[in-house]
Amino acid sequence: MALMVTLGLIAVAAALLGLLVALLRGDSKTQHAKRPPGPKPWPILGSLHLLGQCESPFEALTEVGKMYGEIYSITLGTTPCIVVSSFPLIKEILITKGSHFGNRPNFLRFHMLFGGDRNNSLALCDWSDLQKTRRNIARLYCSPRFASVHYDNLDHVGCAEVVEFLAELSRVTKETREYKVKPLIQAACFNMFSQYMCSTRFAYDNTACAKVVRTFDDIFWELNQGYAVDFMPWLSPVYKNHMRLICTWSQTVRQFILSHIVDRQRLALDTSEEPRDFTDALLMHLQEDPNLSWEHIIFELEDFLGGHSAVGNLAMLTLAAVVRHPEVAKNVQKEVDAATGGSRNVNLFDKTVMPYTEATILEVLRTCSSPIVPHVATQDTTIAGYPVAKDTMIFINNYNLNHSEKYWEAPNEFRPERFIASGKVSKPEYFIPFSTGKRTCIGQRLAQGFTFILISSILQYYDVTSSNVASIRTYPACVAVPMDTFSLIFTPRNSAFVQSI
Ligand code: HEM
Repeated sequence: MALMVTLGLIAVAAALLGLLVALLRGDSKTQHAKRPPGPKPWPILGSLHLLGQCESPFEALTEVGKMYGEIYSITLGTTPCIVVSSFPLIKEILITKGSHFGNRPNFLRFHMLFGGDRNNSLALCDWSDLQKTRRNIARLYCSPRFASVHYDNLDHVGCAEVVEFLAELSRVTKETREYKVKPLIQAACFNMFSQYMCSTRFAYDNTACAKVVRTFDDIFWELNQGYAVDFMPWLSPVYKNHMRLICTWSQTVRQFILSHIVDRQRLALDTSEEPRDFTDALLMHLQEDPNLSWEHIIFELEDFLGGHSAVGNLAMLTLAAVVRHPEVAKNVQKEVDAATGGSRNVNLFDKTVMPYTEATILEVLRTCSSPIVPHVATQDTTIAGYPVAKDTMIFINNYNLNHSEKYWEAPNEFRPERFIASGKVSKPEYFIPFSTGKRTCIGQRLAQGFTFILISSILQYYDVTSSNVASIRTYPACVAVPMDTFSLIFTPRNSAFVQSI
């Protein structure tokens, strides 16, 4: 009897303590009438100070999540935000209620990057009929289906550019032992995109092109950063110079695209023929669709050409990974040698018999965890029963998703094998490096195809190493590396071939 009374008292005390903790945290899970639990915001700053406690904001959001769980509220500046990290909740937001969460944050920087209006950008605009049209135009070219004519073209363009790239790499690495390869990789990726989308390529010593490639890379780096001014726009005078610089980037890109690509393409356009490429298709849509303007199609072309920067950065991250894990490089080389018999260049169609190489790129995507651009609620709605007010910003924490022991065995180890089952590539449904739903990445097939060609070709012909592996710096929850980044050593595996290119 005494035991029963004691247990009863303990139970009551525990329940009261739980209630007290919940009240202190603002936790209202029991009734779901309020926002999800989360840290109490400070005046003006909100909880921005918490994001500064780790190297990347997504690491910091993961740390905060350890206290509040898979869904929590956080106020950044004065913006109410919700952070989710479990796959069922992410699915609810991106798929089941995709149309309730189709908008993007209204950051000043985003406007500056896209000619004063972020709705010019496909990735940063709010959801609209225009966005639906722009995505539809892009789908055929930027998401080419396996065995389609566009997929063949992707292979053709990628492989042709790789020959030029290898020749240049061979030339420069004869003179320099340790080589900062990123600008050359970015130039090769730009040519893959400009050839695929505009039927144009540029010599590697073309200084105007080098400048625009650098500018695209600056933009890509910028998009991967977070600033206090995003949540406290009244700080913008402090960022005046930075904002001015950002504005010049969109002008540099615009001038180059018009004078080196679009003007020439317009003159050669024949509307009675099938479009030769994506630029032709855009120009033809402009003539047919009264809802599209000249600005719309030029911004769309710029956006997609800019995709090359993501590919170059992913290639750099993949090189960093194989240098850190030489056994992975050896496995890729074994696979590429077996696929080609050592007698021809690797191509995109070899991908079907090179699961380890594809899995290596997927493992890079998992470990670097490219952040998903925040979504914003378009209406009052709910997540997991919690009320969510219109304009609430939603962070999908795929860094947490990709590093959680709940989903991955030994998540901190680099193991491409985790993506292989019965000799084939196998991706769990909770692996969404390109996101999912209405606003999923349109360029994922291009990104994966070109990265595969580039990485497998480099490793087909070179051993890649570093004299100081520890100095190779990459950033958590970030698919970008700075332009002026690490150097690598490229040692020909078969000097007879390298001399012949
Ligand atoms: C490393 C390679 C890449 C990664 C990891 C990546 C990842 C992503 C992610 C996570 C999103 C956000 C989706 C969402 O908010 O739900 C996105 C959006 C987008 N991506 Fe990619 N991407 C890559 C390459 C590319 C390339 C090469 C292109 C263009 C050719 C591209 C075009 C886009 C566009 C236009 C959007 C915006 C879609 C929308 O908001 O409606 N991406 N990407």
